[in-house]
Amino acid sequence: MSGLVSIEVHQEPSYRVHVGVGALGAAAAFVGSRNAAIVTDARVRALHVGRLGLAAPVVEVPRGEDAKDFATLERVLDAFAHHGLDRSSVVVALGGGAIGDLAGLAASLYMRGIAFVQCPTTLLAQVDASVGGKTAVNLRAGKNLAGAFHPPSAVFADAGVLATLDPDDFLSGLGEVVKSALLDGEEFTAWLEGHAQALLRRDADAVAHVVERCVRLKARLVERDPREHGERKVLNLGHTFAHAIEQATGFGRVPHGVAVGVGVALALRAGENVVLAQRVERLLASLGLVPTLSELRRRIPSGLDGRSLVAAMRLDKKGASGRPRFVVLDAPGAVRWDVELSDERVQRTLA
Ligand SMILES: NC(=O)c1ccc[n+]([C@@H]2O[C@H](COP(=O)([O-])OP(=O)(O)OC[C@H]3O[C@@H](n4cnc5c(N)ncnc54)[C@H](O)[C@@H]3O)[C@@H](O)[C@H]2O)c1
Repeated sequence: MSGLVSIEVHQEPSYRVHVGVGALGAAAAFVGSRNAAIVTDARVRALHVGRLGLAAPVVEVPRGEDAKDFATLERVLDAFAHHGLDRSSVVVALGGGAIGDLAGLAASLYMRGIAFVQCPTTLLAQVDASVGGKTAVNLRAGKNLAGAFHPPSAVFADAGVLATLDPDDFLSGLGEVVKSALLDGEEFTAWLEGHAQALLRRDADAVAHVVERCVRLKARLVERDPREHGERKVLNLGHTFAHAIEQATGFGRVPHGVAVGVGVALALRAGENVVLAQRVERLLASLGLVPTLSELRRRIPSGLDGRSLVAAMRLDKKGASGRPRFVVLDAPGAVRWDVELSDERVQRTLA
């Protein structure tokens, strides 16, 4: 077993993220004698709940995005009451980002807020969603529109659980990893380029290293901008293009992280950083991700024409003015946010 790394996130209140193979085994000691409930889905329950070694009732919810609705939220809250949770109890979120978002919101509401710990079991949830305290469910009007900031009391990111992820779910995480490496700087970007094969094999030490680096980056950004008023927005690098791709093809067709990968390359091209765009495209390809919009169009022949993508982008209301805003990277680690690009430049990028 590799040693665990512990990263402190200075949020209100502060908490620690424990990263490494075997991290889930430390969650039970953290919960201690407190009354707890584990929120998870059937698949993760069958595969990994035993690693917690926690004698607590399990509240099972649907898999993936289907868990993030009000009906499920209400059912989870009722289950907390049924199991006698009180203000001193702990909610344990065991699963991907969807479970963390749902269970975190339920914990923020139950008795006006009780503690919860994140036990992320997807790569995406380990490198991103489990840290930072954003929780949410979806509305018919859009994703994540009803939520709360409710930081976890601790995070246990166990690289050992990622071996069972479906290929698309693993790839989704890798797309976000490429984004994080570029935001972090040259050293992490070069490391990723040198370790693509190890990551594709899901080598536990390589994956744990990536999770640690991404968590350190996110912790820094969250500390400096806990409520995403400014700098934390850099985490949206590539996302304006990615959302347009997901919207134009119908959500679920292109895995989110695959769309983010192409989106990052497009953001670089839109910023006229062609040399870095080409480097990133090579990195994406070496990680099994789709490197370019033209390659994505080859795989999915309909819905990705320039006009559809521009229309989809207009629906994405990231900017206060209603115009899409972009995160632009001048070099690894040198990033600007809230950038408005001309329609002409965006259209040329998507042509
Ligand atoms: N709160 C945040 O800051 C934040 C950030 C990014 C994304 N998110 C949210 O995260 C969600 C996406 O999360 P995700 O990519 O983790 O996907 P997910 O939570 O939808 O899970 C995807 C699938 O993976 C399965 N799964 C989970 N762990 C597994 C394992 N170890 N082995 C086998 N199967 C496993 C689940 O059963 C599920 O079917 C979205 O709802 C998104 O809005 C939140």
